[in-house]
Amino acid sequence: HGTSRVNGRGHLEIGGCDTTELAHTYGTPLYIYDEALIREKCRAYVKAFEESGFRFQVAYASKAFMCIAMCQLIAEENMSLDVVSSGELYTALKAGFPAERIHFHGNNKTEDELKMALDAGIGCFVVDNFFELELLHDLAQKEERIVSILLRLTPGIEAHTHEYISTGQDDSKFGFGVASGQALQAVKRALDKPFYKLLGIHSHIGSQIFETTGFIGAIEVLGEFLEQVRTETKYEIEVLNLGGGFGIRYTAEDDPLPVSKYVQVITEEVRRQFTARNYPLPEIWIEPGRSIVGEAGTTLYTVGAIKDIPGIRKYVAIDGGMSDNIRPALYQAKYEAMLANRADEPAAEVVSIAGKCCESGDMLIWDYALPKAEPGDLLAVSCTGAYGYSMANNYNRIRRPAVVFVKDGRADVAVKRESYEDLVRNDRVIVCALSQSV
Ligand code: LLP
Repeated sequence: HGTSRVNGRGHLEIGGCDTTELAHTYGTPLYIYDEALIREKCRAYVKAFEESGFRFQVAYASKAFMCIAMCQLIAEENMSLDVVSSGELYTALKAGFPAERIHFHGNNKTEDELKMALDAGIGCFVVDNFFELELLHDLAQKEERIVSILLRLTPGIEAHTHEYISTGQDDSKFGFGVASGQALQAVKRALDKPFYKLLGIHSHIGSQIFETTGFIGAIEVLGEFLEQVRTETKYEIEVLNLGGGFGIRYTAEDDPLPVSKYVQVITEEVRRQFTARNYPLPEIWIEPGRSIVGEAGTTLYTVGAIKDIPGIRKYVAIDGGMSDNIRPALYQAKYEAMLANRADEPAAEVVSIAGKCCESGDMLIWDYALPKAEPGDLLAVSCTGAYGYSMANNYNRIRRPAVVFVKDGRADVAVKRESYEDLVRNDRVIVCALSQSV
């Protein structure tokens, strides 16, 4: 997919760059992003909305993968940006991302984070709970600044996905429940507050969703809710934010719809529900993360130790693992892989790909058919672009990989590989009180 292909040397090539050369130049593990494919996804969303006739904003959910270069790409594509922490906000501002197109999410934004975002003049706060509803308003009042907000609601929809990434059900740490009546209470309180401009409501039902029924169900619940709000307060929303969650194809088992189809289903359903209620059509916002970057990312590793337990299993270990991709360990996530330096060879054996972390659960792929791997071969794991690098960590003091963007035969480092010095940068030598007193 994207610009990936097997070149004349039998090597995996992405963005016109031979992956064996990328490994040689930048080392492994290496995150490779197909820039053209990211832009293609961005444009597919924008185009689908343009065709719908709705006013819209497509906000990239930066938690999926973020760095300064990624923010710049999103800015160039004229999209908005969803951030969930002061760290993501800081990165966006550093990248020169237009503040008015930044939306701030999170179920426990601290006072400092809210202040930072207020000072930056971001476009919208997505208020999650009653505590934040008061806190943000107090800050806005102090600064005599009117802030635009959305209220995050939980519509009580079960999205069919892993329970850790399912967020729309009633019993959730996120948002104001519609069923419990808290959502209505929140709208009334927000309308009473002079320094708030209530733009509308938000709902995100989960992630890696293939079916459109969850979105349709959410729109129906929200439509009913908005009608009730109008009856009781006369208030009508301007913005309806339906979150992200559009699924991607990690393996042959996954069968997502094309981006345009998700947008089409959503916009048609909003039109239907709102028209039926004689409700003015809102501006629609969405927040795709995974579906923008997931398929565009590939992780390149070097094969090292190979352990064959006759009759039981063959383990092929690579020079990364749960430190650069925790998703298999955390969600039993499945991936596909190939030997990047022997991409034209047929599969010869079934092996399991082990990471190098001190943890039995650090397995990237179980029972996968590959050509017979040898130490020094390059293993490319595909579709690692979302929640891979962004969830990378320093377990076992493994340094986080470098990230390169490739396009038209050119590679640019977007994030440098961490150095040993980076690992100890914040460490301090402690002169222990006990040893002093001895
Ligand atoms: N909007 C909100 C409010 C969200 O909570 C999320 C994801 C998104 C948008 C973007 O969803 P996406 O389009 O990427 O599915 N670490 C997990 C995924 C966590 C998703 C959290 N929220 C994983 O690796 O699968």
